[in-house]
Amino acid sequence: MLRFLTAGESHGPELTVIIEGVPAGYDISLEAINRDLARRQKGYGRGGRMAIERDEVRVVSGIRFGHTIGSPITLIVENRDFKNWEKRMSVDPRDRGEAKLVTRPRPGHADLAGVLKYNLEDIRDVLERASARETTMRVALGSFARQLITPFGISVLGYVASIGNIEATTPTHASLEQLALLSEESPVRVADAAAEQAIIAEIDACKREGDTLGGVVEVVAVGLPVGLGSHVQWDRKLDGRIAHALMSLQAVKGVEFGKGFGAAAVRGSHLHDEISYDAVAKRFTRDSNNSGGTEGGISTGEPLRVRVAFKPLSTLMRPLRSADIKTKAEAVASIERSDVCAIPAAAVIAEAAVAFEIVNAFLEKFGGDSFAEIERNYSGYLQQIRDY
Ligand SMILES: Cc1cc2nc3c(=O)[nH]c(=O)nc-3n(C[C@H](O)[C@H](O)[C@H](O)COP(=O)(O)O)c2cc1C
Repeated sequence: MLRFLTAGESHGPELTVIIEGVPAGYDISLEAINRDLARRQKGYGRGGRMAIERDEVRVVSGIRFGHTIGSPITLIVENRDFKNWEKRMSVDPRDRGEAKLVTRPRPGHADLAGVLKYNLEDIRDVLERASARETTMRVALGSFARQLITPFGISVLGYVASIGNIEATTPTHASLEQLALLSEESPVRVADAAAEQAIIAEIDACKREGDTLGGVVEVVAVGLPVGLGSHVQWDRKLDGRIAHALMSLQAVKGVEFGKGFGAAAVRGSHLHDEISYDAVAKRFTRDSNNSGGTEGGISTGEPLRVRVAFKPLSTLMRPLRSADIKTKAEAVASIERSDVCAIPAAAVIAEAAVAFEIVNAFLEKFGGDSFAEIERNYSGYLQQIRDY
């Protein structure tokens, strides 16, 4: 099993993730990680920071000559904007005078709950870590981790299902590759040209009005074998683990698998995915996939489908009412440099979170200390399923 920790402030010198439990003998492409970091930075509706940053990963442990060696992996992404924040984010107490206190909490952000909980007087001490800049390392992590399952034919893709109240129609019979091509080309990561124009117009309108937008992203994973996760213990259930990972992302307010909340409104006879047996392919098949690819917390072998609702961003250019934490007087919320809509990025981040959880469940089932050992375990299991 993999473990990880991220560290780093939004305007600190760098962001870090340490990943422990990585088997040896995997080829790792840093270009692939940088490609995903670039995907996270794209999207119509992002603010000025995306132009400054251009994230690039640096490896400082765990990889030699392109291969994993079994030791912890440390990935680092430099905050290029740090040069403008060196004094305000200084470690040195002598620079304290440089800080301009942030005292007007933004409704919807971690500002108020954070300063009260940690007994702090500068909201910046909270917002620097609460910021979704942290998701840079979730994407680096997910992008790294998915390279451990790509050799086994598992692919994961995130795209946008809706922004605000505008829903995109995603072609139902398109392959994951086709969906990837369509959504990657779109500035709002939708596979629907008509919805794309309406969404762009809505983002423009929101920007003019100093407002923000949320949305729903969908993540699909194909190529999963039956049997990842387990029904036997609460914290081993694949859907539970994925939901936890997704809910831990900034601004997430809801997660649903397959038919999700819609499943509550239909009869069982209209919901459950009926089972057949294909004697030629020697496998059980389903006529539908309303479950979203898990039953009893175990992958069914059907595509995993999960939808994630992100709320609108909390920093409004036309700020909401607040109260100053120092004077307690009525005030308007503070304004940080901010996006209007980050949903195209959120799709890439959710994709990374799902990929990581699948990798972890995969290593739990087929784990070994090397790629060769995992490959043996995996092919032995596939044979067992065929012979069942
Ligand atoms: C990709 C992404 C970008 C975000 N950018 C901003 C932003 O520019 N301004 C903002 O106020 N919140 C932004 N957020 C949301 C906040 O980080 C989040 O609302 C805050 O940390 C409070 O956490 P919570 O919403 O999970 O309760 C972003 C979230 C995501 C996923």
